[in-house]
Amino acid sequence: MPRHVVAPAHEIPPGTRRRVEVRGHGVVIFNLDGAFHALLDRCPHMGGRLSDGVQTGLVESDRPGEYRWSRPGEIIRCPWHAWEFDIRTGRFRCEPDRFRVRTVPACVLSGEAVAAEGLDATTVPVTVEDAYLVVEL
Ligand code: FES
Repeated sequence: MPRHVVAPAHEIPPGTRRRVEVRGHGVVIFNLDGAFHALLDRCPHMGGRLSDGVQTGLVESDRPGEYRWSRPGEIIRCPWHAWEFDIRTGRFRCEPDRFRVRTVPACVLSGEAVAAEGLDATTVPVTVEDAYLVVEL
């Protein structure tokens, strides 16, 4: 699958996200504590843009009145009907085996590696000194 340079890595710091266009597809890239995860920016329910959604965490409970909050920022809630997806896997929180957002492989490469591999960097000027976010799509 072709790899594309989509942004300098420092422009998406931990706790932020960015929407990019790759070959006509919207892709939303999340930086979760320094680890990059990318999802197609299209909800599998009815096509809402996940990049417009709220990032949240998990609220779980074993019994009424007792709640646990965990994984802050690792869940994206679709802005249209509030379906929630795990950013790390793309899986729907309520029916993880039935619905998922397509995940897109993402990694960080040095400018030197980008230049050496001749990757598609048509939308991002590349210098060898910087590091770049690369997605496969
Ligand atoms: S389109 Fe995303 S929840 Fe309906």
